[in-house]
Amino acid sequence: MGSQWGRDGYYRKARTEGYRSRAAYKLLDIQKRFQVIRDDDNIIDLGCAPGSWLQVLHELTDGQVIGIDLNPVPPIENVTTLTGDFTTPFMHEKVRSLIGEVNIVVCDAAPKFSGNKSYDQARAVGLSEEACDFAVDFLKPGGNFVVKTFQGDMFQLILDKMRLNFFGVKVYRSKAARKGSTEVYIIGKKFKGRRNDSEG
Ligand SMILES: C[S@@+](CC[C@H](N)C(=O)[O-])C[C@H]1O[C@@H](n2cnc3c(N)ncnc32)[C@H](O)[C@@H]1O
Repeated sequence: MGSQWGRDGYYRKARTEGYRSRAAYKLLDIQKRFQVIRDDDNIIDLGCAPGSWLQVLHELTDGQVIGIDLNPVPPIENVTTLTGDFTTPFMHEKVRSLIGEVNIVVCDAAPKFSGNKSYDQARAVGLSEEACDFAVDFLKPGGNFVVKTFQGDMFQLILDKMRLNFFGVKVYRSKAARKGSTEVYIIGKKFKGRRNDSEG
């Protein structure tokens, strides 16, 4: 995948290759570069609609895949989807009733943007922090976590939180990101385990 796939190129490529959205290429790009997912991993995908990351995850692993979104997701074979807010204790309990600890959590969630840049960035980073809390609750020690966030004033907060919880932390901007967007992914490898909760 190279620069020949511009904005519309990724859209057309997704249609041709049967992915529900161009976002599929962001996860494929991350996997190619960081080898986050192994072929027997159990995985939770936060903010998964319309489901292109779920399609990619289903291709990458024979393990269990669970997706959560505020919006319903059209069914994908052998993938469980839950409709609701992943930040709520209710959803944590619901997921807990389906699966114990997992190897991987991924999060491509983004709040609805208002157009006010600093407000939107604060909310987006807040959501990334909630996703990190979710990952800390559900990951096995040694597990991996990928989270979308946005660069700006609050960015350091989520970066610090990731460094507290993972041995290896990298920031990556996918080639499939839209031009001019401040979107980046933070890749956390090797979860340190929940003993770090009391440290912050
Ligand atoms: C960019 S889309 C995800 C695209 C997806 N990765 C794919 O490949 O199809 C972001 C999603 O995050 C979801 N979202 C935002 N906040 C959420 C929350 N608190 N709980 C669950 N889903 C959330 C939105 O409903 C939206 O569908």
